[in-house]
Amino acid sequence: MPTYEDDYQLSIEDPVAFWQQRQSEIEWFETPTKTLDQDANGSWRWYVDGSLNSCWLALDRHIEAGRGDATALIYDSPATQSIASYTFNELSARVKKVAGAMREAGVSKGDRVIIYLPMIPEAVIAMLACARLGAVHSVVFGGFAPRELAMRIDDAEPKLILTASCGIEFDKVIPYKPLVDAALELATHKVDGVVVKQRPQCEATLRAENEFDWSAWEAAGPSAEVVAVSALDPLYILYTSGTTGRPKGVVRDNGGHAVALTYSMHAVYGVNAGDVFWAASDVGWVVGHSYIVYGPLFKGCTTILFEGKPVRTPDAGTFWRVLANHRVKTFFVAPTAFRAIKKEDPECDLLAKYDLSSLEYLFVAGERCDAPTWHWLDDHLDVPVIDHWWQTETGWSICANMVGYGLKPQKVGSLTLPVPGYDVKILTDDGDEAKPNEDGNVVVAQPLPPGALPTIWRDHDRFIESYWSAFPGYYTTGDGGYRDEDGYVYVMGRTDDVMNVAGHRLSTGQIEEAIAAHPAVAECAVVGVRDSEKGQVPLGLVLLKDGMNIQAAALQDELVQLVRQKVGPFTNFKRSVVVKRLPKTRSGKILRQVMRKMADGDEYVIPSTIDDPDILDEIRAALTDAEISRGTA
Ligand code: COA
Ligand code: AMP
Repeated sequence: MPTYEDDYQLSIEDPVAFWQQRQSEIEWFETPTKTLDQDANGSWRWYVDGSLNSCWLALDRHIEAGRGDATALIYDSPATQSIASYTFNELSARVKKVAGAMREAGVSKGDRVIIYLPMIPEAVIAMLACARLGAVHSVVFGGFAPRELAMRIDDAEPKLILTASCGIEFDKVIPYKPLVDAALELATHKVDGVVVKQRPQCEATLRAENEFDWSAWEAAGPSAEVVAVSALDPLYILYTSGTTGRPKGVVRDNGGHAVALTYSMHAVYGVNAGDVFWAASDVGWVVGHSYIVYGPLFKGCTTILFEGKPVRTPDAGTFWRVLANHRVKTFFVAPTAFRAIKKEDPECDLLAKYDLSSLEYLFVAGERCDAPTWHWLDDHLDVPVIDHWWQTETGWSICANMVGYGLKPQKVGSLTLPVPGYDVKILTDDGDEAKPNEDGNVVVAQPLPPGALPTIWRDHDRFIESYWSAFPGYYTTGDGGYRDEDGYVYVMGRTDDVMNVAGHRLSTGQIEEAIAAHPAVAECAVVGVRDSEKGQVPLGLVLLKDGMNIQAAALQDELVQLVRQKVGPFTNFKRSVVVKRLPKTRSGKILRQVMRKMADGDEYVIPSTIDDPDILDEIRAALTDAEISRGTA
């Protein structure tokens, strides 16, 4: 058994040898003979001449190996007070029918399908059905407003939209069909059909001839067999926030993704076929794609689809109940969920009601894990609490304390060490390698390992500009941090204009565009300020048009509604402050980082390129008046 050091060194010195060894962890239709090559765009691609099918790896492979009666999926829904289990055979039967129905509707290899569904089994089934046909799914998080859905429809140009009549948020039923209708009104692209899973909590009215009731549609679908795809064919597009209001379509290919995720299940998370793995995220985020759906199923684990919240569904003991009931071995969740639990059950009293003896590892990611939350977990749970770091772009972890190689000593606040395949460096703004403990830009030397994005959907220039232009030869993660004298990595936060609100990634530009639509607003800037529960929340700094006479409180209410309508409620946008001017560089770039640090009370450096430093005093005064600023220069 190689050590972490052996594998890490091999992966950096001879990536081809390392990833060639890993390729036999999955089964191929055509085994690749060329492990790494550059495509026409110049991107490094893995397993270039391999052919496979990701749905086959997730389901059929296990059935053929005699594990068809093992449990593949447990749907645990406090939202509907129901629990259902699917064996690999049962899940496969439904996936085949949905794939068949999609094929009848004209979907074939390479076509896109948008999935806008709450956390119900149909979400998993729809994703796997697309993979079965070689169609490219694009799952859109249910919390996004119609405008955001419309942007994704126009970019992905799907043939079909698969949706449900409603989602359930605590005790609120949220009808989805009106949101889809509104998005289709806003979008220029026309879809061939909309398929709606009717839920008893709220039935949707199907009006047009191309709107189908899911159950009848699925029942009429013939069983579809798998379509072989190239390792390089896209499996999905997942839109994520960049620094502008326009989301980036992260493309994931089939081959590298299947190898990387299968490897990660034991190497990072310590699970094998038959183990129960639970990622308490949403299928709309990358964690949901990688670790609710594909990773656990590739490995033959049981995965849990949880339709609920950490609190009030029905109480702050829900997570403990799910872990105990389903005998979960490895649990993966965002720290924000535990901050919500800690607020309601500070002494963690509800834990005592449950037997957590099956639990061996707790992984956190999605945002920086603050020390109080880490200690609270460490104090109350009898398992290692492992912080690990990754992004939508990479699809799996860049740094982790890897269970499969034996855990390294933990350092609170650190992500431990880079995962094999990731040559992580800390670079100063000048591109020099930072010294131990010196802050810098966290980058990864090329080639990125299998699974990481090869491009942005139909916008390769943006891929180059966003990730590869700041430091030639290095992938820019957008995160800042450092490595200590033992090489342990610490990620402290974004260096760009991306915010992290309750584990949800948002761009300042996305919210600014919504605020700018208000008739009284001349200009605005949004910054993500620190929040004890959500990690960060957006704060709007707003300049009014001349002659506008509107009360700050009334304006704030209207802006909050605008952001909820145009982006979605999960933005947690609640505060705005009226200012007279915004600080900018001489070239006109708004100094968001300075304002963020000012609001957070952190030290900040006034950039030499600032146009008018006096504006900072005005901003500080406005933040103080609004009881936001604790800042000093
Ligand atoms: N559909 C519609 N509305 C949604 C939604 C969805 N899928 N998800 C959230 N919202 C709404 C909420 O109902 C709430 O609305 P309100 O302002 O009317 O009350 C608002 O958005 C705020 O959402 P959020 O901040 O997410 O709070 P929450 O209480 O709904 O959930 C957590 C708390 C911790 C469960 C949730 O933030 C979470 O799961 N975060 C982790 C995300 C994640 O997994 N990231 C990936 C990295 S691991
Ligand atoms: P997303 O693409 O939504 O997964 O968000 C990725 C971003 O979340 C990263 O670039 C980081 O800024 C942040 N992030 C994720 N995990 C961690 C972590 N463990 N520690 C610090 N930041 C994290």
